[in-house]
Amino acid sequence: MKIILAIVRPEKLPDVKKSLWNEEVKMMTILDVRGCGQQKGQIEEYRGVIEEVTLHRKVMMIIAVNESYVEKTVEAIVKGARNGKGKVGDGKIFVLDLEDCIRIRTGEKGVNAIGGKSKEIKKAGKTDKVVM
Ligand SMILES: Nc1ncnc2c1ncn2[C@@H]1O[C@H](COP(=O)(O)OP(=O)(O)OP(=O)(O)O)[C@@H](O)[C@H]1O
Ligand SMILES: [Mg+2]
Repeated sequence: MKIILAIVRPEKLPDVKKSLWNEEVKMMTILDVRGCGQQKGQIEEYRGVIEEVTLHRKVMMIIAVNESYVEKTVEAIVKGARNGKGKVGDGKIFVLDLEDCIRIRTGEKGVNAIGGKSKEIKKAGKTDKVVM
């Protein structure tokens, strides 16, 4: 099992999510974060004060997957998050080993807990709109 940490532009989140859903990756945690990549800060003026902004608003996605899902998950994130042929600040993906996973409700562990194979899953009813 792996944990995929992806840091992407907030405005790209809907595209990334759609791209992941197409690969049946639907379980995720999203955090609003701020971060800095390899570029230096950018100069901005805010309320008359000139400041160097070194931390940019990003979204971090935490996705735990079985080994067989790692490649397609990473590819889906890149596809959804990249601007055209790629722009500075498009984001970064970290892939980490995941030792265990426990579904609290059932006590299931490891590969049985990580995915969505539970028989009790109810399909959502007909909806007009999926909110990304
Ligand atoms: N080495 C790192 N460690 C932790 N977080 C990082 C690291 N590199 C990038 N990040 C996070 O990812 C975000 C996006 O990074 P970014 O896409 O700017 O990477 P980059 O290495 O600067 O590549 P690029 O040159 O394409 O901009 C950063 O704002 C930061 O939150
Ligand atoms: Mg950068």
